[in-house]
Amino acid sequence: MRTAIYPGSFDPVTKGHLDIIQRAAAQFDRVIVCVMYNSEKHGLFTPEERAELIRRSLPELEGVDNVEVDCASGLLVDYARRRGAACVVKGLRRVADFESEMQMADLNRKLSPGMDTLFLTARPELAFLSSTIVKEMARYQVSLKGYVADAIAETVSERMREAIRSAP
Ligand code: PNS
Repeated sequence: MRTAIYPGSFDPVTKGHLDIIQRAAAQFDRVIVCVMYNSEKHGLFTPEERAELIRRSLPELEGVDNVEVDCASGLLVDYARRRGAACVVKGLRRVADFESEMQMADLNRKLSPGMDTLFLTARPELAFLSSTIVKEMARYQVSLKGYVADAIAETVSERMREAIRSAP
């Protein structure tokens, strides 16, 4: 069974991430989308909430039934090894992503020889999109339709409204 890990922060998952998930799912027997967390970095959503948002978004991907969602902390290569995956999938949006992603891929291969990284380039119409951009749009009450799955758009907008209300 060929298993790939698609790791990320996913705070929150965007249509750009969903496109990468769909395309990775067509290339592997199983894709594990893993919310990797770092206790020093706080986001709009907790890691478990982010994983739940991904699970709620997946039904909007037609014909995809080989994707699991998980959360983990620690080294990505250790997680991948535990899950029997020899490939990491990452999305590349722009040239600016390339440098840091190559560095991470090289590091992961050093830490775990044989661990490969497969880069999928973003569709041009989604290349501008990121979780940061989604949060920025939510902050200014721009509709998130088309940028995140329909199933989670209101949840993301509402969480941002709560965050703004409770900000000091
Ligand atoms: O969505 P992001 O923020 O680009 O995801 C980055 C992520 C979570 C994939 C990356 O930071 C990561 O792999 N973190 C796990 C810790 C790790 O293995 N770091 C590299 C070796 S020090």
